Amino acid sequence: MSAQNKGKPLSPAAAQPWSGRFAEPVSDLVKRFTASVGFDYRLAEFDIEGSVAHARMLHATGIIGAEDLASIERGLEQILGEIRSGAFNWSLDLEDVHLNIERRLTDLVGDAGKRLHTARSRNDQVATDIRLYLRAAIDHLIGQIRALQTALLDLADKHTDTVMPGFTHLQVAQPVSFSHHLLAYYEMLSRDAQRYADCRKRVNRLPLGAAALAGTSYPIDRQMVAKALEFDGICENSLDAVSDRDFAIEFCACSALLMTHLSRFCEELILWMNPSFGLIDIADRFCTGSSIMPQKKNPDVAELIRGKTGRVNGHLVALLTLMKGQPLAYNKDNQEDKEPLFDTVDTVTSSLAVFTEMIPGISVNKEAMRAAAAQGFATATDLADYLVRKGMPFREAHEVVAQAVRFCETRPCDLADLKLPELQQFSKLIDTDVYASLTLEGALTARSHIGGTAPARVKSAIAKARKAIR
Ligand code: ARG
Repeated sequence: MSAQNKGKPLSPAAAQPWSGRFAEPVSDLVKRFTASVGFDYRLAEFDIEGSVAHARMLHATGIIGAEDLASIERGLEQILGEIRSGAFNWSLDLEDVHLNIERRLTDLVGDAGKRLHTARSRNDQVATDIRLYLRAAIDHLIGQIRALQTALLDLADKHTDTVMPGFTHLQVAQPVSFSHHLLAYYEMLSRDAQRYADCRKRVNRLPLGAAALAGTSYPIDRQMVAKALEFDGICENSLDAVSDRDFAIEFCACSALLMTHLSRFCEELILWMNPSFGLIDIADRFCTGSSIMPQKKNPDVAELIRGKTGRVNGHLVALLTLMKGQPLAYNKDNQEDKEPLFDTVDTVTSSLAVFTEMIPGISVNKEAMRAAAAQGFATATDLADYLVRKGMPFREAHEVVAQAVRFCETRPCDLADLKLPELQQFSKLIDTDVYASLTLEGALTARSHIGGTAPARVKSAIAKARKAIR
């Protein structure tokens, strides 16, 4: 105990492990303000996993004895049980998850518990915990993405011949199959999974051993700890190990992109379900009504996922901002990384789960999709391509078809409704074979190259996709 507080010891129950340096306890307000146990308790299992690996290394290197190790392992196992059963008594007085567990360990096993923190600091401890937490989260999320992709492929299987309007500028552009449209999201999700997997490589490095910032004077074996905790390697610089959270920022960036993809899809589902489009319906169990308008059926799930995207994007900006002004090495600012991170994981997890469940609840109005595709001169490009095949330069063909479209608009009718002599007013190159190009099916089938919307091509794309995520 320091000279200043001699004679007025803090009550042992209230004292933080670092309180020896201080003449008075922190005020209640400060205690509540600085404590993180209210949220970082979620790291408990990873904290214990890290502590067991650390203690085993301390023993293997001769820093602690066999009996101490046995006591620490026994105590931590009991604590894990208490936490899992809900019996563990979390205390705000003990600031965070790390100090809560360490104090309980000391209560259970005495001096051995006090030896656990040898050659370690909460700074490298918390960095390790977050990395273990994120690694598990990434593995779970990649599994969830696969499940969503499978649901998309199951739906796509049924709609390789279902024609819908493909849009640009939200105006009818060219016909595509509904499957082809779904496969676009499959691709986005594949990249999302790849991004998480790539981020995992940088998450999966061991900070432990960096101690507070400069390393430790004990003969530790970091490789042994890395191996025990299944890290791919160790953080090479102790200052970097305890202070940077770029891996967490990267995780949030991956999550923001994933949510952005889900959000775009949600926006489309919402539009398509609007009666003015009437292209799909979403099962009642994913919609809600209005308390005032009896007729309403609202696509709340899709709207909420779109809304939650803003929140995840916000967490990315929060972490970037948290980091940008911090001098090396650890600063207490970093305690603020957890809530955005936890909320990102929770939000993405629940969004993926509900989205995946909603996919089989989508019913497709094939007739309405077809009618919508037939309305907006969706085969105009195909008519131009037809003229090009007959020898006309594309720019000229574009002009000719534009004239034909204007003519149709005055009727109004579709290009396919024009009689042959009517079409021939615009170009003598047009013959009876033109109608094969003017049908929606013809337009689809013509796009048979890799990445195209032809039914046969989409079927093979589905087969390839199934293999890729098997
Ligand atoms: N609760 C702290 C955090 O989340 C743990 C590390 C505290 N380290 C310290 N030197 N105060 O970052």
